[in-house]
Amino acid sequence: MLNGNVKKYYADKVINQNGVATFFDSFVLNQGTHDKTAREESLSLRENNMVQRVKETLDINMGERYVNLKDRIADTLKSDMDMYDRICSQGTLNCIQWKGKPLLKSAQDFVLYPMLIWELRPNSIIELGSTATSLEWLTNLAKVSELNSKIVGVDLHLPNYIPAESEFIQGDIEKIETLLTVDYLRNLPRPLLVIEDAHTNVSQLLEWICNHMRDGDYLVVEDSLSKQGTISHWIQHTTMSSTIYVDTYYTDFFGVNTSTAVNSVLKKINKAG
Ligand SMILES: C[S@@+](CC[C@H](N)C(=O)[O-])C[C@H]1O[C@@H](n2cnc3c(N)ncnc32)[C@H](O)[C@@H]1O
Repeated sequence: MLNGNVKKYYADKVINQNGVATFFDSFVLNQGTHDKTAREESLSLRENNMVQRVKETLDINMGERYVNLKDRIADTLKSDMDMYDRICSQGTLNCIQWKGKPLLKSAQDFVLYPMLIWELRPNSIIELGSTATSLEWLTNLAKVSELNSKIVGVDLHLPNYIPAESEFIQGDIEKIETLLTVDYLRNLPRPLLVIEDAHTNVSQLLEWICNHMRDGDYLVVEDSLSKQGTISHWIQHTTMSSTIYVDTYYTDFFGVNTSTAVNSVLKKINKAG
């Protein structure tokens, strides 16, 4: 059984949604409210498992929104998304399309980026590992959020077109410091959102980008299930560990660690100022 505080939270949430409940809201609110029919009884073993999963998810979700990366990555090894759902999340017969062209985001990330961009209102967005389609998508998202953000793609390969109102830097992310120089990063309008989607040189990239992030800037490290060891090792050794936080609102929006950025929607927070 879920406790009264949890039910109150979800009852208030539904009121804020104009009375419309999500699947999750309905599941939580319907626990223990009626006598089970014979058919429901026969499903109860499965349902008990669901209640346990909801409890485990809420134990994590109802804590602080921003959790220091060092603590989060040590404590939160779990993901609510099983591997089959994960491998299907970018599409099966086709990958997700934007304007008829392939966009290599997961369904969850596809939903979360517009929300993050709307909330953060980044004046600069840099995607490391970028295609013409993903650059165009980010440019379009900024526009619908009524932003005039500087949008920059970085990749080894020059795309076949560069969307209007964006920039492209061709080069090797292995040499990140020569592509995004100190001066370049210093002069970018803030807030800054950096997206890591090249899957190379991750440790050095974390150090370089986080070092040049200011209070409130974000770094999203995508497809990071396989990067947990690298991220964990980096945060244990960097001098910036006290300033790098996981924004769990986004990592856990669809259940704990269900975006591709597992423990890695990162925000720099300088508590001292
Ligand atoms: C997963 S794809 C990017 C997908 C794109 N961001 C999207 O959402 O559709 C990875 C990209 O990283 C680029 N990449 C891989 N190694 C790189 C390197 N050392 N330097 C620069 N780009 C690299 C590849 O060329 C490729 O375009």
